[in-house]
Amino acid sequence: MSSENEIANLLHESRRFPPSAEFSKQAVAQPELYEKAKSDRLAFWAAQANNLHWHKPFTKTLDWSEAPFAKWFEDGELNVSYNCLDRHVESGAGDRVALFFEGEPGDTKAFTYKELLQEVKKAANVLANLGIQSGDRVAIYMPLIPEAIIAMHAVVRLGAVHSVVFGGFSADSLAARIQDAGAKLVITADGGFRKGKASALKPAVDSALSDEKCPSVEHVLVVKRCGNEIDWDDNRDLWWHEQLDSASSEHQSQGFNAEHPLFILYTSGTTGKPKGILHTTGGYLTQAAYTHKNVFDLHETKDVYWCTADIGWITGHSYVAYGPMANGATQVIYEGTPDTPDWGRWWSIIEKYKVSIFYTAPTAIRSFMKLGREMINKFDLSSLRLLGSVGEPINPEAWMWYREVIGSGTTPIVDTWWQTETGAIMISPLPGVTAAKPGSAMLPLPGVSMEVVDDEGNAVGNGHGGLLTITEPWPSMLRGIWGDPERFKETYWSRFPGRYFAGDGAKLDEDGDLWLLGRVDDVMNVSGHRLSTTEIESALVSHPYVAEAAVVGAKDETTGQAVVAFVILRASQVSQTGDEEKVSKELRDHVAKEIGPIAKPRTIFVVAELPKTRSGKIMRRLLRDVAEDRPVGDVTTLADTTVMDTISSRVASGASD
Ligand code: WTA
Repeated sequence: MSSENEIANLLHESRRFPPSAEFSKQAVAQPELYEKAKSDRLAFWAAQANNLHWHKPFTKTLDWSEAPFAKWFEDGELNVSYNCLDRHVESGAGDRVALFFEGEPGDTKAFTYKELLQEVKKAANVLANLGIQSGDRVAIYMPLIPEAIIAMHAVVRLGAVHSVVFGGFSADSLAARIQDAGAKLVITADGGFRKGKASALKPAVDSALSDEKCPSVEHVLVVKRCGNEIDWDDNRDLWWHEQLDSASSEHQSQGFNAEHPLFILYTSGTTGKPKGILHTTGGYLTQAAYTHKNVFDLHETKDVYWCTADIGWITGHSYVAYGPMANGATQVIYEGTPDTPDWGRWWSIIEKYKVSIFYTAPTAIRSFMKLGREMINKFDLSSLRLLGSVGEPINPEAWMWYREVIGSGTTPIVDTWWQTETGAIMISPLPGVTAAKPGSAMLPLPGVSMEVVDDEGNAVGNGHGGLLTITEPWPSMLRGIWGDPERFKETYWSRFPGRYFAGDGAKLDEDGDLWLLGRVDDVMNVSGHRLSTTEIESALVSHPYVAEAAVVGAKDETTGQAVVAFVILRASQVSQTGDEEKVSKELRDHVAKEIGPIAKPRTIFVVAELPKTRSGKIMRRLLRDVAEDRPVGDVTTLADTTVMDTISSRVASGASD
């Protein structure tokens, strides 16, 4: 959490950016939305749900009698794939481009809604032939290519449940997720293009499935993307293209109950084991579509929308695979990294496709700020008319730079706060309605009820900071943690009975607008990706060198937070005075292997002791002080109050990597 000083500075922000009259006139969102939602919240959500196609209409909006397990629209039936594809083709929009794909090497492909539907139907038939039925779990481990989105839609078309695992995760992380969900099928690719070369994916799948580690898996479907050499198991592996080529393109979608499971997405929590966040069908799609349309001001026949998130994260689910397609949007997807072949790549894509709505993360914006505007000014970005931000707090400086350098100086910015668990955007300005303040996510969206409270759960009121809670159920809320209802209740609903606790700190300014202040628990946010301190600590102690480890998220100018580890080495393995640089490199590589490169500590400090309370709990707060290079806070609850002096002097003497 930011220090009190910083909060005070933020709240002196006096700049206001009201929407232009021209923007407001054409805006999807109108001020009455707030009134409508306030006067009858459930009727408001029912109206949003009725913008979708229901195979069987619902008559009940919400059942909260078994809180915190919500049921939304529970007697209705719908099909997510039908809503995202068939519906648009049937209403005459079949020739509209759904996806412009830009591969990293420069290959491109466009799919109209009609073409995408054909592919999804074929893929659904392939999956059905492989025995995938409603309720079965399918793991997807793919680069960001059209087949990934086709695979997701094919799975949900059958009422099966996907678990997309980010391609940057290691074989071990993949195996753990496959096991937890009991996936029957894995869909992957030989590789994807990253930083100018093929980055293999299939070997990680082979390794995850080796030694009978994942007995639930019957088949692996493999998309040929890079043509890199891969191992092949004839009993298990099938080429995607061969299967699709021989599949029928006829497939009638069927409705599934609104509370039918839709997908599981694993995210880091405060313990070592990732949580399988479960989302269901009707409520999820309702809120993903409503927020996408209103927050991004989508005019589906005119706009070209681009969200840079990978499908391995929730943003790639709600604002690439589902929300935009439910709304019939035309969108761009890009396979590779922003610096290939050079840092102009994103801006050349915006120029080329005339992207009008752009959604990315503050960490990317800050990286470009460092590079300077000259490189960006070479491109024509005049098509942009709305900019979005997600994943972490956006500092006012980056907000202004985004608006002026990427936008035209008048382009509205929507800073959207939400989580894997909330399924869709919860806090954001409404473009055309809200006078935005740089750095503030402003207000809960119409239909969403929140309160900032103190430790006792009392509302703090304007001008004060506290913890962010959600006071009423919302349609796209998580329905649980896969296989662990107790953990669901304990994690989100026990701290403040009757309310959802988000794990974020927030402050209300004098006008009642919200400023998000980051996580207050042991979850870090590195480049907008959630990592758990405990998960990285377990990875570190699984290495023979390490006796004990403590990990903290330290402030980082570009990535928001960075992983900083403090380790105690086993004397028998490495001499404490040995080559620390080598040790540190080896440990970083070990974490990359165990979890994935995104979890690699930026810095590893070798220390002799860790600060612990009398009950043995590591006081990460004190380590964060050291990692962020400021005076160490109150040490009186430490079992040994001199420990921090030793650590600080060791760190100061350069005991880092
Ligand atoms: C943080 C990403 C400030 C927050 C969609 C939250 C933000 C966590 C914002 C969820 C924002 C997300 N301003 N902080 N606009 N958006 N966060 O599950 O700490 O990957 O709890 O979902 O990201 O991360 P997740």
